[in-house]
This record gives sequence, C-alpha cells and structure tokens, in this order.
Amino acid sequence: MDVRRIRNETPGCRKRIHLNAAGSALQAQPVLDVVLDYLRLEAELGGYEAADSAQDRFAGTYGSLARLIGAQPGEIAYTESATRAWDMAFYSIPFKVGDRILTTTSEYASNALAFLQAVRRHGVSIDVIPDDPYGQISLEALADELGKGGVRLVSINHVPTHDGLINPAAEVGALTRAAGALFLLDACQSVGQLPVDVGELGCDLLSATGRKFLRGPRGTGFLYAATGVLSQLDPILVDLCAADLTGPDSYELRPDARRFEGWERFAAGQLGLGAAAEYALDVGLAEIADRIQLLAQRLRDGLADLPHVSARDRGRQQSGIVTFSHASLKASEVVARLAAQDVVVRTSEQTYRFDEGVTPEPRVRASVHYYNTEEEIDRALAAIAALR
Ligand SMILES: Cc1ncc(COP(=O)(O)O)c(C=O)c1O
Repeated sequence: MDVRRIRNETPGCRKRIHLNAAGSALQAQPVLDVVLDYLRLEAELGGYEAADSAQDRFAGTYGSLARLIGAQPGEIAYTESATRAWDMAFYSIPFKVGDRILTTTSEYASNALAFLQAVRRHGVSIDVIPDDPYGQISLEALADELGKGGVRLVSINHVPTHDGLINPAAEVGALTRAAGALFLLDACQSVGQLPVDVGELGCDLLSATGRKFLRGPRGTGFLYAATGVLSQLDPILVDLCAADLTGPDSYELRPDARRFEGWERFAAGQLGLGAAAEYALDVGLAEIADRIQLLAQRLRDGLADLPHVSARDRGRQQSGIVTFSHASLKASEVVARLAAQDVVVRTSEQTYRFDEGVTPEPRVRASVHYYNTEEEIDRALAAIAALR
C-alpha cells in the first residue's frame, strides 16, 4: 500500500494524529472533490438540472456499493445513515405476536431501542445470546436458541462500536440460514475496515454508514437487501421513489431494494459515497484490513506496557477499534489532554450492554485507519504514557 500517496491525498493527516475512524474517519481529497464539485454544479445549474446531467453517475453509485460488498446493484438502497438503513430493514419485517428476535450483548443502542419498541408494538420477544469466553457472540448458545424454534430474526453487529471485537458473522449467517430465520447484520463499523462479502456472510440484510471506515461524507449510508427476501418485507415508509401509484387506490412497490429509499436526498453525498467505495476498492479491501490489524496490534501492545492503563477490548479476532481506561483520569479528561497534543481519540459512550443495561463508565476509544502510520501510533502511545 502506498501510504505516502494516501496521506498526501488526506488533508486531515497533516496537522494531527487522527485516531477516530470509528467516529468519523478522514475523507480523501478525491472523495471530497466529488462532493464539492457536485455542490458547485447544483449552485450553477439548479438541483434538478444538475441531477439530470449526472444520471449515469448516480446509477453508478449502486454498482460501486454493490461491488464493495459482493452484491448486485439492485440490492442496494442509499440512505442518510446506517441507523436509517437498519431501521428500513427492521421496521419492514412483518412481525407476529410471539416471534423471537435473537441478538448480542453488544448490540448498538439504537437497534436495542427498536427491538424494545417491537416488543411493545408486536408482542415479539428478544433473547440476548450470551458471549463466548472471548466476548463474542456464543455460536453454541445461538445454535441452541435457534433449535428451540420460532425465531423470525437474528440481528447482530459485525464490529461493535466499543469492545474491540469482530463477531463471527459468517458462522452466525450459516446457523441462521439453516434455521430458516432472517439475518440482519449491522456492518456499520466493518464496511471499509474488513472485506465484507454478503455471500460469504450469508446475510439477508446489511446496514452500513458512509462516514466511518469507508471514509465517505457524513449524512450517508446504505442498505443491502437480498433480492430473495424483498417479497417478505413491507417497507415501513413508501414515497414516490419506493413505489408507483397504479390507480386511484393501488400502488406497486419498486422491484428492487430502492423501495427502501426516499426520493429527496443528499445528492452530492450519494456521489461521494460511491466515490468512497471506489477509493476503498482501489486501495484494496484485504490490504486495508491487514494494515488496520497491524496498527491496532501495535497500539494494543504499547498500551499493555503502560501500568496506569487497562485495555478493555475483548474478542478472539480484534478490530481497529481499541478501547482502554486510565487508572486515575476519566475518559473525557484523557481525550481532552490528548487533543491538546493533537492526538484525536474519543470517549466511547455507547458502551451499551443488552444484558446489563448501560455501562456507566465511558472508555477511551482510539480507532486506527490505514492512513495512520507506525510513527503516529508511537507518538500517541508516548502521549498516553505521559498522562498522570
Ligand atoms: C455498530 C454501530 N451500528 C450503528 C451505528 C449508527 O450509525 P449511524 O450514526 O450512521 O446511523 C453505529 C455508530 O456509531 C455503530 O457503531
């Protein structure tokens, strides 16, 4: 990987050590240019006229996102965030009283809220699959629960926002498919960080965001919905993008995943998201994953040598999200003191655990990306070591 070229194309690398890819990563200049150029075009021509002139490019974004995750263009819907993508999938499942939902202890708080609402609205039940000894979803416990029957949905995250782990999503997909349930994968922190192939993962539905490891613009995300499951889902919202009026009292849904989209959108963001997918594909998904692993391991090894720091990560396989606590400083103090030295880390407040409720103590979260260097990791470690 040509890290020097990549850094030259990443203006945010110049002034600070940015270790917050899990929050919102640094955009590459070519992606930023796509967004800015299109905004200028809208200002010059008018929004509708600009869209008319760029129809092929908009169509191309579905192909780019599909290539990124091994899907077909017709299986992609563009959304404003990962949460909206996930919501469009989840709320479109026609649950019945008594349906079971299986999930993980580390599920994202917004998803947990939606589950609780489904309990109230539809009388479904939620079973939280316990962790295995490494902290990941226990495949044994999942198989047991699936074996009891009645499971409509298995909904887990691939890489949680905290915890540093990578869930064994492909194994979960295989078990879920064998049991005949739907599999919804929250891939918000894995797309752009790991090779994500929907065929290998065996998921029916997958949600992702633009701004994190994919390095796209904020306010963008996408949903993958496998062609084979579309007929089982009734979109929770339908507008004139999602469906056509076919008579005074009839309508027909679009045949593809765009039935989950709304008509009005952040158009420049859609082009930027497509450009970010192309950028990641050009850099190479396997190369990105390897480099993130290397940098995260360097950071974890360095933190392990610091007596006043406790690593908080779990997982047999770990991600580029590294979390820790300081013996005498609050997470917010660590973040502020490092920021004063141009080392950007974040508190991880979404340390929600479905089995325990909200964990009270936020952690420090340092999340690396392939544009970071070994030297930056060492400088960040030195700054953490000097905190008292
Ligand atoms: C695991 C996970 N799922 C979903 C989300 C929500 O993503 P968005 O803010 O794009 O809706 C996040 C955001 O941090 C996340 O970490």
